[in-house]
Amino acid sequence: MNAVMDERALADLFVAPISACIADSDMFSAPLFSEEEAYIRKAIPARRREFSAGRAAARKALAKAGADVGPIVAELDRSPRWPDSFCGSITHCEGFCSAVVARSVDADGVGFDAEEAKPLGSDLYHLVCRPNDLEHFHPLPRIDGVDWPKLAFSAKESFYKCYYPSTRSFLGFRDVSVIFSVTAENSKEGTFLIILENKVKPMPRPSTDFVGRWFVHGERVYTGVTLPRA
Ligand SMILES: CC(C)(COP(=O)(O)OP(=O)(O)OC[C@H]1O[C@@H](n2cnc3c(N)ncnc32)[C@H](O)[C@@H]1OP(=O)(O)O)[C@@H](O)C(=O)NCCC(=O)NCCS
Repeated sequence: MNAVMDERALADLFVAPISACIADSDMFSAPLFSEEEAYIRKAIPARRREFSAGRAAARKALAKAGADVGPIVAELDRSPRWPDSFCGSITHCEGFCSAVVARSVDADGVGFDAEEAKPLGSDLYHLVCRPNDLEHFHPLPRIDGVDWPKLAFSAKESFYKCYYPSTRSFLGFRDVSVIFSVTAENSKEGTFLIILENKVKPMPRPSTDFVGRWFVHGERVYTGVTLPRA
């Protein structure tokens, strides 16, 4: 990863060509299309700002990827409806909002998540992690600023954001497990494998394993999962 966290670094989270946009401060008050406006009309101002920034970032990423830019409506389940021939993912957390887009010829789906790097509360461990996740964290290296349970939370959210649009099926955190690898000793980046443990759930692919990438930069963790072309 670059020393600077920028759109190129975000694109490195994916194994397909990606257009990324990090929202700048103006995008938090960017205008919305009327279809999007209808969805967010009753929201509190903070939610409206993050929604606007996500839509503005998504439009910029779509334009970079060569798409015609129009409304990105939210489905009833909240997932964004991407233009034909494109897939994408939006994330927001304290002080940060970004969107990534891939062309459907390159990927069937992408999932992207950013979170504050502060450790996951121990009260959440057992909601987010399966016993085999916790066993796997034990021998992982201790790296300053890297909290494995928090990374697991983010990795599973990223996976869900590409799993759901291709299956329309809900997944709980304990329906999947995650196995992390670190690129080099003490580095704050690596890959992870998501394993769909709940075999009753539909599989978007014959394989039950999905590869993602992660890095920690400054105050945040970033994860990305690519659903490769079938
Ligand atoms: C969907 C979810 C992952 C989003 O997480 P969040 O805490 O709101 O965090 P983020 O800001 O990173 O992501 C929000 C964006 O995700 C996108 N999103 C929401 N629901 C989605 C879905 N079902 N599929 C794909 N993307 C979705 C939206 O673009 C949303 O932003 P918007 O409402 O402004 O458009 C979360 O709300 C959720 O439902 N989690 C439960 C399921 C889960 O994570 N399981 C993990 C096991 S694999």
